[in-house]
Amino acid sequence: MAKNSSLVAARAAKADEFYTQLSDIERELRHYKKHFAGKTVYLNCDDPRVSNFFHYFSYNFEKLQLKKLIASCYKSQATDRFSQNDSEQAVYLEYEGDKNGSGIPDVDEIGVKHFQGDGDFRSAESIELLEQADIVVTNPPFSLFREYLAQLIEHDKKFVIIGPTGAITYKEVFPLIKNNQVWLGNGFQSGNAYFATTNPDGYAKGVYNPETGLVKFRNVSWFTNLDIAKRHEELVLYKTYDPETYPTYDNYDAIEVSRVKDIPADWDGAMGVPITFLESYNPEQFEILGITDRDNNSGLKTKEYSRDDVPNAGDLNRRGAIRVNGKLKSTFARLLIRRIQP
Ligand SMILES: C[S@@+](CC[C@H](N)C(=O)[O-])C[C@H]1O[C@@H](n2cnc3c(N)ncnc32)[C@H](O)[C@@H]1O
Repeated sequence: MAKNSSLVAARAAKADEFYTQLSDIERELRHYKKHFAGKTVYLNCDDPRVSNFFHYFSYNFEKLQLKKLIASCYKSQATDRFSQNDSEQAVYLEYEGDKNGSGIPDVDEIGVKHFQGDGDFRSAESIELLEQADIVVTNPPFSLFREYLAQLIEHDKKFVIIGPTGAITYKEVFPLIKNNQVWLGNGFQSGNAYFATTNPDGYAKGVYNPETGLVKFRNVSWFTNLDIAKRHEELVLYKTYDPETYPTYDNYDAIEVSRVKDIPADWDGAMGVPITFLESYNPEQFEILGITDRDNNSGLKTKEYSRDDVPNAGDLNRRGAIRVNGKLKSTFARLLIRRIQP
């Protein structure tokens, strides 16, 4: 049992080792430039010797008018691929900008310090650095995403971080999204996130490209609580409601809208929409009422099925149910939303 759980932990740790491309960081962070002036930025899951987040912020330190940059790494895990990453001891680094006029961060301007412990983002040493920071930016270990985000919220930090898109539905994360404490960033180009990996094995066909050394994930998003222009763009609605196209759920007081672009302009009640709605969510245009997965968090649920009623009761209870050819069918996970009346 113990052996099994340590194997699971080792597998999770390996799966956490993938590295963000500089181009993706630049593409996302250009939307946040106004937030960085005079701020201390902390990269708390970033070996400064290999992290492109460190590269981005140190080379753009003056342009962004940063006050200070701190980067810390967890006990070094990538020794085989990144030869310069040759220390097993966790380090952190502080950079306060170009002092010698070279225009770039030089070794003698970067103060590398050793942690006593392993650099875990939950350690007292790392939290001490977190407390100095205004904004945290990184791609944290996905296996610890819940805890990672909870810590940022607990310490009341601004952040721009990468995480699994599925985290939206986590019971710890969804309430933050619903309450407008966390939202999605601009996103990866065409939804494709590429990462360098130390571990090319175990991916489904087509995910790892041996020529580039990159994996491609389509289920990864940027999460933030910094304001971005996209959040204020109105979704243009041009469809009109009709009961054939938009069936009412059998178990929710809401209609089913299976594509975000089909949200009817003239429906004032609740609607279930795909999770991808969050990519175009503007809180001045819509409010989020809940999510169909699990409990009745929206207050819109009208019915619980039992196996005596229907054989697929479990499925139906987790989702919005619609009647298709007389039979009840569960839909995909849906966000329950309502248009804010102008
Ligand atoms: C997905 S990788 C991303 C690395 C880097 N932030 C980037 O974007 O290129 C997550 C990193 O978090 C580190 N990590 C894993 N567990 C950690 C922990 N408990 N505390 C801090 N960092 C951790 C891993 O070693 C890994 O390098």
